[in-house]
Amino acid sequence: MKNDLFLLDPSIVFMNHGSFGACPRDVFDVYQNWQLEMERRPVEFLGRRSSSLLEGARKKLSEYLGADYKNLVFVTNTTTAINTIARSLKLEAGDEILTTDQEYGACDNAWNFVCSTWGAVYKPVHIPVPYPGDEIVLDIFLKTITPKTRIIYLSHITSTTALIFPIEAICRLARERGIITIIDGAHVPGHIPVHLEKLAADFYTGNCHKWLCAPKGSAFLYARPEHHETLHGLVISWGYSTGVTGHTSFDAYTGADTFIRRHQWQGTRDISAFLTVPAAIEFQEKHEWNMVRQRCHNLAIQTMHRFANLTRLPLSGPDNSFGQMVILPVPACDPELLKSTLYDKYKIEVPVTVFENQIFVRASFQEYNTEEDADTLIGALRDIFKLPSA
Ligand SMILES: Cc1ncc(COP(=O)(O)O)c(C=O)c1O
Repeated sequence: MKNDLFLLDPSIVFMNHGSFGACPRDVFDVYQNWQLEMERRPVEFLGRRSSSLLEGARKKLSEYLGADYKNLVFVTNTTTAINTIARSLKLEAGDEILTTDQEYGACDNAWNFVCSTWGAVYKPVHIPVPYPGDEIVLDIFLKTITPKTRIIYLSHITSTTALIFPIEAICRLARERGIITIIDGAHVPGHIPVHLEKLAADFYTGNCHKWLCAPKGSAFLYARPEHHETLHGLVISWGYSTGVTGHTSFDAYTGADTFIRRHQWQGTRDISAFLTVPAAIEFQEKHEWNMVRQRCHNLAIQTMHRFANLTRLPLSGPDNSFGQMVILPVPACDPELLKSTLYDKYKIEVPVTVFENQIFVRASFQEYNTEEDADTLIGALRDIFKLPSA
């Protein structure tokens, strides 16, 4: 691992950028400066300046994501955004939320909770691995839509299987049928390009703390204007009053925009991670991240092919269905033991996932990962599974 730009512990081979990201040194400095500034004048910072500071940061992020900045608000993480959307919906008994069987478990929990409240049906379609290709996946969706389908919810890049789903086509077919789309783009910002206004999903959320390398606790919620009135914060706060009772007002509590007013002020909290998002975008621009991303994608794909040549297990999908994260199918084993052995014995931080009884090592490749890291991972897996050397 090379470690000039990031703060990662060099004694660990870190191949799990996908779980919680990692923040570069320079970006982390900006983050800490915001925190210092807040502590020097807490009231000035949070009460008087936060609205305009956050607006500046939202504008920069919106520009990066091809969104109108009035349609986007910062949230702490994707889980919060999905909960915010799911818990604002007014469903009817029997309504169907069409999804896949490859969604992030915490968000599945949120949907199951909400569906049980309304008597609605959370309906996962099966997407096989090896990935059969975008056309077949679209066909699966088309065949599963019924007159009761109110919502299509799915990941843009999946967590367990690292696959890039054909979101543009799915949003288009949903729109043609008057179905609401909710896209979990937790892995997307900084990983693959997205233009939110062109995509025109009804709702979209993404993490800035993963592939954009912003500090932990920075994410966004995008909603098209027609949904602003019906979308309620998980925390009901000052943004819900027309005037401020018992206190003189702060700019942070008010504002003309319902969407921003309701979701931005969530009680006292540290907004430094949000304010650091522009620095993370500028950091990636400065370090020519388009080239970094391409190198990482190439290394990821090469690693996937090299490992498949050793195991003779089928590849999990076509090369262009993966970004900087790939899944390596491994022979049958205890997944927990595999994960702990890789970490304890080989000092490799890498997640082990399971889908349909197949166990995978999900390897992430970020700027700091080298060919040597790929060799280390393959060497360790060869050792553990007693695979031939070529
Ligand atoms: C597809 C997907 N959705 C949602 C999440 C949740 O992200 P967070 O923990 O930042 O809310 C993850 C986390 O890895 C994810 O992979």
